[in-house]
Amino acid sequence: MRIVTFSNLKGGSAKTTSTLAVAAELARRGRAVLAIDLDPQATLTTSAGLDPGPAAASLLSGEGAPEDAVDRLVDASGDAELGGGTLHVLPADRRLLRLERTAPVQLSRRLLAFLDLVEGDYDVVVVDTPPQASALVTAALASTDLVLVPVASGRGALDGFGDVVELTERFGTAPVTGAFVTRVNTSSLHDRELVEYVASQVSGPDGGPALRSFVRETVRVREAEMARVPVPFYAPGSTAAQDYATLVDEVEVLLERHDS
Ligand SMILES: Nc1ncnc2c1ncn2[C@@H]1O[C@H](COP(=O)(O)OP(=O)(O)O)[C@@H](O)[C@H]1O
Ligand SMILES: [Mg+2]
Repeated sequence: MRIVTFSNLKGGSAKTTSTLAVAAELARRGRAVLAIDLDPQATLTTSAGLDPGPAAASLLSGEGAPEDAVDRLVDASGDAELGGGTLHVLPADRRLLRLERTAPVQLSRRLLAFLDLVEGDYDVVVVDTPPQASALVTAALASTDLVLVPVASGRGALDGFGDVVELTERFGTAPVTGAFVTRVNTSSLHDRELVEYVASQVSGPDGGPALRSFVRETVRVREAEMARVPVPFYAPGSTAAQDYATLVDEVEVLLERHDS
């Protein structure tokens, strides 16, 4: 089991979209996937078609035992044909707000105790994080194997990027593993340059960019959100689904390297 955390301290950088799309694409490939929602806004939970709930807050506050969190996992496969794969979610709700001032080491300890319990049940755990620097973000970064940073094209695109790098260096169990640009308009020179720049910021094991892929801007993402279905399930033929599939090809290489 490998833990992949999506983080960027800038809001609207496509963390949630990317976490859910990567989770769904891995599940489509037959992997057992758990998505953990650590954002009090519970956008991943609702975008997966589920109701917000106390599972994450109860676990991290220590009010509930890690075993209770296992009981609170919800299946989010919907009607998708997963060929043996699974997509489960640990739901979030606003109660997570109360934890933003708790010591990250405590949050991380509780999260790791839960992850220990489900070690045999999942191939990959993806973690969605809130935008602003908080104990929740630090705890996630201190409990992960890989850190991926989505960067959305647009004003201040790079604003939160350096902060994640710094946070992972100070508190993380892993350095930033890869970064990729989303909401890309391929006919824009600016966007093509941004893709090159972001790719060049994080090297992979071979010295080249850890990730070369990017995700194009498309209305399908918004539609999938409104339908509350992950974009690879909602519109498998869309550019976003294709781009996330290419990203997952690259992420799988990083996961394998991490294993060896
Ligand atoms: N590839 C894309 N094309 C179009 N819109 C996108 C794309 N990726 C994300 N978005 C939109 O960007 C907004 C922010 O995305 P979200 O994943 O919620 O970011 P974050 O979790 O970082 O705050 C959402 O409204 C989403 O619909
Ligand atoms: Mg989000």
